[in-house]
Amino acid sequence: MISIKNAKKTYRMGDEEIKALDDVTFDVKQGEFIAIIGPSGSGKSTLLHTIGGLDSLDNGSITVDGDDLAVLKDRDLARYRNKTVGFIFQNFNLQSRYTALDNVELGLIFAGMPKKERKEKARAALEKVGLADRVSHKPTELSGGQQQRVSIARAMVNSPKVILADEPTGNLDSKSGEKIIELLHDLQQKMNVTILVVTHDDRIAHKADRILRILDGKIVEDVTNGKKEAVKEYTD
Ligand SMILES: Nc1ncnc2c1ncn2[C@@H]1O[C@H](COP(=O)(O)OP(=O)(O)O)[C@@H](O)[C@H]1O
Ligand SMILES: [Mg+2]
Repeated sequence: MISIKNAKKTYRMGDEEIKALDDVTFDVKQGEFIAIIGPSGSGKSTLLHTIGGLDSLDNGSITVDGDDLAVLKDRDLARYRNKTVGFIFQNFNLQSRYTALDNVELGLIFAGMPKKERKEKARAALEKVGLADRVSHKPTELSGGQQQRVSIARAMVNSPKVILADEPTGNLDSKSGEKIIELLHDLQQKMNVTILVVTHDDRIAHKADRILRILDGKIVEDVTNGKKEAVKEYTD
């Protein structure tokens, strides 16, 4: 589903060069649930942003579901960001003036779908995350966990192939965080969606099929299933 080859991304701040991605290579199979761990500043968000087409590489390539991101034209890149991937952020990124339903529906406006169908799809997505009774609530009228469920509904409403989540439980208490993890796990199981989650949360790491540890822009550990006991010492 995802193939990343020799990905490099360097930021220049005055005289300083920061290698946010330093020759990163890995593949992801369809339906895999991957946890990306590593200390602050190690390049985790940069990795997700470049996979999501929000940012470009300096060198190397990223191919997702057959699309080589570097060669996509603006229009195709917009379609890619809207249809192929769904984003979930630590701070939810919801529109505060809109209801839960409107927030989820926003994801469909680019899809050029009639309004009635958009509403139905948005409502169904909110039902799936257990918020059927909160569709008319605005973000401030929802708990953090509920807001994150709205953003999961928004990410899922276009049936993306890949979900990219950047510390999705970072702003939640442990109980709400656990629900979010269960929900993501559920989506993976039921819809065979590919999930990449950046996390400091070892409960997420343990749910994952595979754990990638990143340090100074490099993948320094790539651990699959059975060896997950090793994870604890890597998370903080
Ligand atoms: N837009 C930017 N301009 C300059 N430096 C950046 C920018 N974005 C990220 N960086 C730097 O790149 C490195 C990796 O950042 P990031 O991917 O956000 O790390 P993480 O998500 O693991 O905390 C950090 O040193 C960060 O300061
Ligand atoms: Mg980050």
